[in-house]
Amino acid sequence: MEHSALWLKAQPLSGCGIRSISIVCTDHTPQSSAAVWELRSGLTELFPKVAFVTGQADYFVKMKVKKFTSPESYSVTSDENGAFVTGGSGVGILYGVFALLRGLRLGGLGRFSESITPSQPLRMLDHWDNLDGSIERGYSGRSFFFRDGELLINERTVTYARLLSSVGINACAINNVNVRDGAQMLITEKFFPRLSALCDLFGRYGIKLFLSVDFSAPMSVGGLATSDPLDREVQAWWSERCAKLFRRVNGLGGFLVKADSERQPGPYAYGRDHADGANLLARAIAPYGGRVIWRAFVYNCSQDWRDRTTDRARSAYDCFKPLDGKFDENVILQVKNGPMDFQVREPVHPLFGAMPNTNIMAEVQLAQEYTGQQKHVCCLVPSFCAFFRHETGRGTVSENVCGTAAVSNTGDDFCWTGSELAAANLYGFGRLTFDGSLSPERIIAEWCALTFSDETARRVIAEILLRSHKAYEDYTAPLGLGWLCKPNHHYGPDPWGYEFDRWGTYNRADRDCVGVDRSASGTGYSELYAEPLANVFGSPETCPDELLLFFHRVPYTHRLHSGKTVIQHIYDTHFEGYEQAKRFAEAWKTLEGHIDEQTFANGSERFAEQLRSAAEWRDVINSFFHRLSGIDDEQNRQIY
Ligand code: GCU
Repeated sequence: MEHSALWLKAQPLSGCGIRSISIVCTDHTPQSSAAVWELRSGLTELFPKVAFVTGQADYFVKMKVKKFTSPESYSVTSDENGAFVTGGSGVGILYGVFALLRGLRLGGLGRFSESITPSQPLRMLDHWDNLDGSIERGYSGRSFFFRDGELLINERTVTYARLLSSVGINACAINNVNVRDGAQMLITEKFFPRLSALCDLFGRYGIKLFLSVDFSAPMSVGGLATSDPLDREVQAWWSERCAKLFRRVNGLGGFLVKADSERQPGPYAYGRDHADGANLLARAIAPYGGRVIWRAFVYNCSQDWRDRTTDRARSAYDCFKPLDGKFDENVILQVKNGPMDFQVREPVHPLFGAMPNTNIMAEVQLAQEYTGQQKHVCCLVPSFCAFFRHETGRGTVSENVCGTAAVSNTGDDFCWTGSELAAANLYGFGRLTFDGSLSPERIIAEWCALTFSDETARRVIAEILLRSHKAYEDYTAPLGLGWLCKPNHHYGPDPWGYEFDRWGTYNRADRDCVGVDRSASGTGYSELYAEPLANVFGSPETCPDELLLFFHRVPYTHRLHSGKTVIQHIYDTHFEGYEQAKRFAEAWKTLEGHIDEQTFANGSERFAEQLRSAAEWRDVINSFFHRLSGIDDEQNRQIY
């Protein structure tokens, strides 16, 4: 299927008079060869009539390896005569070349220089792609990694590796953490040749591939009677399997594992803990430099809603905190940004900063499962930025992690992300994890300038993007109250959909009060944070408004710091969120003729759906709370 080159496509630079270019690279690794290739094709797009020469030329690019703090570091200096690119290795050179091309596309031949060491060492995408070609929580078509049980490698795969590398992504798990549909067979001989070719291709772009594996593979693949991590036969089985896999599939990064979570198999079945489970795999792949990324998304998904003592928000902390220091060196614990599940507003997960003797990485979700499913515009870059800079009481989140993985939002759609505007999230995730000093405004402006050539389009779209998260939060999730969505597919409002359910996701709304008491008088969750946060979150008087109902159960008449009552805030934000969605749709209409027809039509359809859905959210949530509380809207607006 045809596909867009997204932010990699460039317009010719006019009026610069460059006829000849010389490129010299003294490094000869696969990554610097990729850098030279990128440079030639990027410069050809910018200067279509140019000839590449050796020796004297109108413009030159010189590349070499130099000692830096990291092999991924680079430095670029560029002016109208040419550019010097140095990297800590071939990968650093490649990143430097992408930075140079970005600089030329954004600012022409003007002077610029940049010297960067990546802020986060591991910058990863997790695909939830199944081998049959479907994607769990996919909103952008089918998988481009798998079809009918086969692994695909084609032009789209090449463009994908280029896109990821151009924003600094250096790791990618290609299959769903819920390992099914025969995906356990990915670690068997049948897949080795294709996997190996895929690893080579991504390796040229500085990207390590990871496989999600089934903890019970010794049984499902090996035919053993157990998968007990302390069983000798099980250990020997994994060692042997990994020896075969890693010797044939050169450069594989390692495994990603969802264990004892939402019914995936794990060590609990044998009375073992998560350190036993993770270390089993870590020891089998350590000889090949492999790493095990072990997910902390562990909770009881068969809870009794009547039981007020079990709190899903606590579960990962209670399970993993006691294991600090027990994981092998090549294990990384992957912790979701919040304690629940990628809601539009959650507090930062209390495990950040709480396990100083364990490698921790964060996990965020680009796939907009709970943020409008790529039909609603919801730019996540500002919230990612706030998350990384959040003070845990023991340093910021980014100071406490060795990297971040994002659940991918891509599929085989022409524009990769269903909504063209959702590509800004993918771009922004890469840019921000590579360079944590960038502001969301700068990232969005960059993405707009690289994606749209028209000035009006850039301005209008940047404005929509930067306001979109607040609008979505306003009409869906007041004051930190998540899970008001429809069960299973998670689209559209259903405030009681999860209330009497087993997933541990409640709002406890009745005629007097709303919210969950997670303070010391409730589940004690707020006490898991380091000071000053435990104190701040622990009382409704100090808790920030935006998280009030996550931490506290309060009367509808409780007054917020904003001066409004809880119920009036709910009404106001739902009306305002809808109005904002309407302004977005109107602003988009003015772009007809400023952007290409396909993009315009794609957006028009989605903004119309967002508006329909925002009205539904507004009316259902407002009516729900009006009927429960019996309190009227101060402004007497229409509530049903
Ligand atoms: C969410 C999502 C699931 C996914 C899970 C996970 O619960 O709805 O589809 O499998 O997260 O992160 O593993």
